[in-house]
Formats: sequence, C-alpha cells, structure tokens
Amino acid sequence: MAETAQRVALVTGAAQGIGAAIAEELAADGLKVVVADINGEGAATVAERIGGVAKTLDVSSPEQVQTVVDEIVAEFGRIDVLVNNAALVPLTSWADISFEEWRKVMSVNLDGIYLTTHAITPIMGKAGYGRIVNIASNTFVAGTPDCAHYVATKGASIGLVRGLAGELGKLGITINAVAPGIIASEGVMSGPHQAGFDYVVPMQAINRRGVPADVAPAVAFLASEKAEWITGQTLVVDAGHTRN
Ligand SMILES: NC(=O)c1ccc[n+]([C@@H]2O[C@H](COP(=O)([O-])OP(=O)(O)OC[C@H]3O[C@@H](n4cnc5c(N)ncnc54)[C@H](O)[C@@H]3O)[C@@H](O)[C@H]2O)c1
Repeated sequence: MAETAQRVALVTGAAQGIGAAIAEELAADGLKVVVADINGEGAATVAERIGGVAKTLDVSSPEQVQTVVDEIVAEFGRIDVLVNNAALVPLTSWADISFEEWRKVMSVNLDGIYLTTHAITPIMGKAGYGRIVNIASNTFVAGTPDCAHYVATKGASIGLVRGLAGELGKLGITINAVAPGIIASEGVMSGPHQAGFDYVVPMQAINRRGVPADVAPAVAFLASEKAEWITGQTLVVDAGHTRN
C-alpha cells in the first residue's frame, strides 16, 4: 500500500456548486482532494483545476462506495477528511412526493452518508485521526416548505452527527455538520429554487446572494487539525438568515 504524508480528503458531489468550492478550499489548504461525483466528467474538470483526483461515484451504491474507498487507500494509504456533500435538492410539494421520489432522496442524501461514513471510519479509526463534515441545510432550522423529504434527510444528517460523535471521539475522529442557507450553486441557479433569493436575502443579516465560496471556509476549518475540540456540532452558515 502506498503512503503519502499529505492529508487526503474525499469530497462527494464535488463536480460543481458547494462541493467544488469545498474541494478547492481543501486543496488550497494543502490536502490531496479526491473529487467524487456521479458526474465523472465534471469531477475530472474540477480535479484537474485543483490538482486532485477524480472518481465517478454514486454515493447511494454500496459497491461503488467500497470500490472508491479501496482505491483511495491503495493509492494514498490514508483518508483524513470526509465531506458528505452529495445530495439531491428537490422542490416538490408534499402531495406530489411519491414513495419512489421519497426513497430516491433518502438513498442519495441519507444512505449515501451511511455508506461513505461506515466505509471510512474504520480507516480513520486505525489511524487514530479523522475529520468528517456533513453538509446539512438551514432548511432544517427554517422548516422550508415544498421539500419535506429533503428537510428530513438534512435533519437526519444532523442527528447522525450528534449520535455518532461519542463513538467516533474515542477513535480520534470528529464529526460535525455545516448547514448553509440558500447558495447560488449550479443546482440552485438551474431550477425553481433561485426564486427563493427574493424571499430569503432580505431576511439575512447580510443582504446579498450567497455563493459556494461563502460556505467552503467553514467546512475547511472543521476539517482542519485546529478543530480538534469541536465535534457533534452544527454550524449554520447562512448570513444570519436563521439565528438559533
Ligand atoms: N445551494 C443551496 O442553496 C444549498 C443550501 C443548503 C444546503 N445545500 C447542500 O449543499 C450540498 C451541495 O448543494 P449544491 O447546491 O452545491 O448542489 P448542486 O446540485 O449544484 O451539486 C450537487 C452535486 O452532487 C452530485 N450528485 C448528485 N447525486 C449524486 C450521487 N448519487 N452521488 C454522487 N454525487 C451526486 C451532482 O452531480 C452535483 O455535482 C447539498 O448537500 C445540498 O443539500 C445547498
């Protein structure tokens, strides 16, 4: 097995949007970043830009997750940081959420976190070190309508952070969540979500549109060695839209 001194990070859903900004920030901090996404071409473009490694990965596939984790370990001998960012961001009113759509959102947004985290915590545990950051959402705080299944998965990702911190702390691993407010990612700007800015920006303490680079530094801090004393927490990064 190869072994590198450079810290290694896996960022899921990193072909665009918030995930790509996180990958870029971690690379700027000196980490070797594995840019993983179901969109392999997009992942390759980001990886090339930041000097990282691209992996085509559907986080809801147990086989694909295990394969990618095995490949990273074979190539680098370590995984120091896991950022669970990949998610589907639907806008569907409750009456129209079919069980099929419900299951799909659960499988990517929630099962995906289980699969990556469960595959990687033994590796981090063996090393006695790890940083895990789940990208949640302030919709869990705000109770945003027309995406109840999405909000449920984001609440669950925060619940996982709280429920798992104690077990992982004994292994030298921290796990936290970052909950962004509405951000002008490619995903949001390509669909009906963008209408949300008209409503949300006036409620923010800082009245401009958030961009992916506004979220990435918070994630990079929680993924850093300096954040050793912070675990089981959720950091809301929404320009003061919600203030709990
Ligand atoms: N943009 C926002 O307003 C906002 C607000 C709060 C939280 N978030 C969260 O931030 C994260 C990123 O959001 P974004 O707005 O950048 O999204 P986006 O739609 O722009 O990008 C999501 C990325 O995830 C990838 N992806 C989708 N399904 C996947 C799968 N099964 N396996 C691997 N990759 C997959 C997509 O290909 C895409 O590259 C998500 O967890 C989202 O819930 C976003």
